[in-house]
Amino acid sequence: MRKSLGERADVAVVGGGVAGLAAARELARRGLSVAVLEDGRAGSASRAAAGMLAPQAEADSPDELFRLLCASRDMYPDFAAALGEESGLPFEIESTGTLYLALDEEEEEEVERRFTWQKRAGLEVERLTAREARALEPNVSAGVRMALRFPRDWQVESRRLLVALDAAAERLGVRVNRGVEARGVRVRSGRAAGVVTSEGELEAGAVLFAAGAWNSSLHKFPDDGNPYLNDDPRVEPVRGQILCYRQPAGQPPLFRHVVYGPRGYVVPRRGGRLLAGSTTEPGLYECRVTEEGARSIAARVAELAPAVASLEVEDSWAGLRPRAADGLPVLGESADVKGLFYATGFYRNGILLAPAAGEIVADLLTGGATRLSPAVLETFSPARFQRVSAPPQLVAPR
Ligand code: GLY
Repeated sequence: MRKSLGERADVAVVGGGVAGLAAARELARRGLSVAVLEDGRAGSASRAAAGMLAPQAEADSPDELFRLLCASRDMYPDFAAALGEESGLPFEIESTGTLYLALDEEEEEEVERRFTWQKRAGLEVERLTAREARALEPNVSAGVRMALRFPRDWQVESRRLLVALDAAAERLGVRVNRGVEARGVRVRSGRAAGVVTSEGELEAGAVLFAAGAWNSSLHKFPDDGNPYLNDDPRVEPVRGQILCYRQPAGQPPLFRHVVYGPRGYVVPRRGGRLLAGSTTEPGLYECRVTEEGARSIAARVAELAPAVASLEVEDSWAGLRPRAADGLPVLGESADVKGLFYATGFYRNGILLAPAAGEIVADLLTGGATRLSPAVLETFSPARFQRVSAPPQLVAPR
């Protein structure tokens, strides 16, 4: 028997990961009726993420993406507090900060460059000698040559974030339809009119594609036979694997900061767990940990923090990061189909982008002004893909 998709919604959101839920929650806060369609297949990047809110540690230059990521990070304290209240589940950010290590001469030069441009941009960043870094975190590698400390690059427990977002959205009246596979948008007279799903059609006034690595397998189903443009952002999966180490009970935490290097990171979690990542493996819809991936992460951990490498690996998992053809987030309305919006392609920054993406999508969908300048909106708009006429290369398995 088919599941009931319920009544028409103002907005139908395809995807119940962090992008879809953050947008759904914000739209519901503004009084819109929202239905989320989540097929629940394995590979969600949101549920695999290590939860670093670290634009300063990850960025190479002060571009539009960096500004968007910093703006989103700075929204996190209020976002977390509101989510805690709305969901009834206490939800906090861990605000000790991030330490970025240089372990050889080349990395030292890179770290100096990063320090210089970030200072020039007026950002908070501290340069530490090797001795200062080891005084702050005695368990980083003895080979550290210098380090940067980013006091505002925080972290969150991403699975708790998802649970809180889910609960907040449902309490705000969002209908979350689980186990329903969305096939694409129904288009009537050039406008999004609903979603075609495995359980029939859901009518909606607008549609948001937030399907992560599966975004490009969503189609347009026109009623009127019009040829619609190919403005697909060609999102591909980029697998990231994570190892979860466990400290023996009763030991003081090995680290307080997130510890980062050019080839990997270690994220301390409450209760003696330490997450280490990650791999960057494009093109495969195959969500699993491999021997080679685990070996390469362990080798990076041994470089950054030998004390972690000798701990027991308690768990491991993988997720498929969604990367658009140009590597940038896709946020905004389709130039082709009115009322079809995108929130996808967040790649390495899905958790970090949640507050800003939720706000931007809700601003655009409700026709209000958004805090982003028109130039920035253009950078992330799906309209940029109209120039590309080739069909998507990757077809996700059903
Ligand atoms: N943002 C960290 C990662 O994607 O591995």
